[in-house]
Amino acid sequence: MALLRRLLHGVTTKRSWAGSLADPSVWDRLHAETLLASAPHFDWFFGYEEVQGLLLPLLQKGDPREPAVAPLRVLDVGCGTSGLCSGLFTKCPLPLNVLGVDFSPAAVSHMKHMLEGHGQHPGLSPQHPASCLHFLQADARDLSSVCPSGAFQLVLDKGTWDAVARGGQAGAQQLLSECLRVLAPQGTLVQFSDEDPDVRLPCLERGTGSRLVTVHELGPFKGLSYFAYLVQAAQ
Ligand SMILES: C[S@@+](CC[C@H](N)C(=O)[O-])C[C@H]1O[C@@H](n2cnc3c(N)ncnc32)[C@H](O)[C@@H]1O
Repeated sequence: MALLRRLLHGVTTKRSWAGSLADPSVWDRLHAETLLASAPHFDWFFGYEEVQGLLLPLLQKGDPREPAVAPLRVLDVGCGTSGLCSGLFTKCPLPLNVLGVDFSPAAVSHMKHMLEGHGQHPGLSPQHPASCLHFLQADARDLSSVCPSGAFQLVLDKGTWDAVARGGQAGAQQLLSECLRVLAPQGTLVQFSDEDPDVRLPCLERGTGSRLVTVHELGPFKGLSYFAYLVQAAQ
């Protein structure tokens, strides 16, 4: 969690940022600051291009002779202003129904403007004509009002566990259990993080029951290594 810790340390030690990371308004201000530096997206860790090679096979898991007719449902919890959802929408050749949720109104509003076209943003077009993309404001520790159970083939968490865990393991375990509730039986939850497997795996194994947890090392990207933690039904 080194990079996130460094950035968040900077955030929480500045007087103007005093407040809790469990408070969406603190994230609103952080999103505004990071976007100033790297609009139209600010990606924690890395962007869509770096992980498309890992994500596509997870979306193509079914029989390749019977391509999915209905768009595959993908959820990004704590999407922030990352380019992950929009990368899937604009670059993935498969039909996808992508939903990004974040509890920060500023992040969600920015992403909706990006999608629909507003000001200097021209709007986004799908790679596959049947693909769609939505953003909703919601607390990822309780998605009951916005996400039905078992609905998503792929659930993505890039840095959100890391952020929530700073408020304690109870919140992080709530986030994990919501991600698993909304995951389809043969679906995959992917957590992207810079947290070491020695720390993350015991936490994941505690919350994932009989599911299989695997780790893939990613990068180095700009000199830093990351991990993808995959949680799937045991075969
Ligand atoms: C480290 S940032 C990662 C953002 C984005 N996934 C990325 O890769 O750039 C953590 C994100 O989680 C969001 N977040 C934190 N706690 C949350 C919660 N309980 N529910 C929903 N979003 C949350 C923050 O607003 C922020 O966008």
